[in-house]
Amino acid sequence: MKNYIQIEDNHTVDLFSKRGIMLVRGESAYVWDSEGKKYIDCVAGHGVAIVGHCNPAVVKALEDQSRKLITCPYSFYNDARARLMEKLIEITPEHLTRIFLCNSGAESIEAAIKFARLSTGRKEFICSMRGFHGRTMGALSATYNPKYRQDFEPLIEGFHHVPYNKFEKIEEIAGKNTAAIILEMVQGEGGVFPGDSEFFEQVQNLCTKKKILLIVDEVQTGFCRTGKMFAFEHFGLKPDILCLAKGMGGGLPVGAVLCTEDIKLGNGKHGTTFGGNPLVSAVALASINFMLEENLARQAEEKGKYFKENFKIDGLNKVREVRQLGLMIGIELKEKVQPYLAQLLEEGVLALPAGNTVLRLLPPLTIKYEDIDFVIKKLTKVLA
Ligand SMILES: Cc1ncc(COP(=O)(O)O)c(C=O)c1O
Repeated sequence: MKNYIQIEDNHTVDLFSKRGIMLVRGESAYVWDSEGKKYIDCVAGHGVAIVGHCNPAVVKALEDQSRKLITCPYSFYNDARARLMEKLIEITPEHLTRIFLCNSGAESIEAAIKFARLSTGRKEFICSMRGFHGRTMGALSATYNPKYRQDFEPLIEGFHHVPYNKFEKIEEIAGKNTAAIILEMVQGEGGVFPGDSEFFEQVQNLCTKKKILLIVDEVQTGFCRTGKMFAFEHFGLKPDILCLAKGMGGGLPVGAVLCTEDIKLGNGKHGTTFGGNPLVSAVALASINFMLEENLARQAEEKGKYFKENFKIDGLNKVREVRQLGLMIGIELKEKVQPYLAQLLEEGVLALPAGNTVLRLLPPLTIKYEDIDFVIKKLTKVLA
């Protein structure tokens, strides 16, 4: 076999650190490397493989649609796209009636920023410290971590970052120039910090009072990950603009923005070549139908609870605390996380970091209870 690792090493731009193994196959919550070693995959393509790797319903939709029509721009109607739109409308609150389909999380944030500016005529945004919204220039302007931002300044003007879960600062700076407040319901990349319901309620009321749009970024929390179809349902929030991606496409690249009728845009003000293509639309629909048929939201809730009850941190002196909502799990360590990720990989468990000291688990929601036991056993071994 060709040395594919060498090829990637020789030719990939120097942006990514590698984990040393080559993944060649996946099924539900498992992946296999080129040596045939099996892993329980709590990386899941950074939280993408919600319905499991190579889910048969996804594979079937992909095969079927690939024989009908793969690409079709927005300037023509398409049945697969329409069916996905209908489903998205069905699973989101009534007030969200308009959809823009795109190809990634960052693209959904870019669109949301443009939509908010266009629709309000205002140019300022309030975002959170520790918040992560992607790496394109608009999304990066909303992202907090100076490590990602500093080499690219000046970014887009008018983005203010305030402490998460603290309302006072938002209240202080929100004004007549504020187009929108952008929030994650659980900060993912920032370290798995769930939001506080009182904070969200105060933000919602302020938005209503000052006619500021509320943009909810559910790129990581959406599609059952936290135990509800969308995490804002835990808090009774009413977003004006909802950004989705990751788990929606069964592993294929996809993004979506849902918004209200009041978001006024205008012909040609934004666009996309690949967004809403029939192939990804058919697969996303199959993926969402699987979530609904298998009640993956309930599964995430129950499996998350099972993890919480069975992962005992007393005696694990490297662990500071565990934060989670459903199957979005962050284990805050007292030291750097990287060596523990490497040890877990040796033990057959793939996990990812969230910042320097948080070990993050985003398994497919189809993970079996016995595999959660296995993950707990290995975590307990390496973190003892
Ligand atoms: C909350 C959130 N928003 C946006 C993004 C960006 O998504 P993408 O990597 O698909 O551009 C991410 C990616 O991790 C995310 O977690």
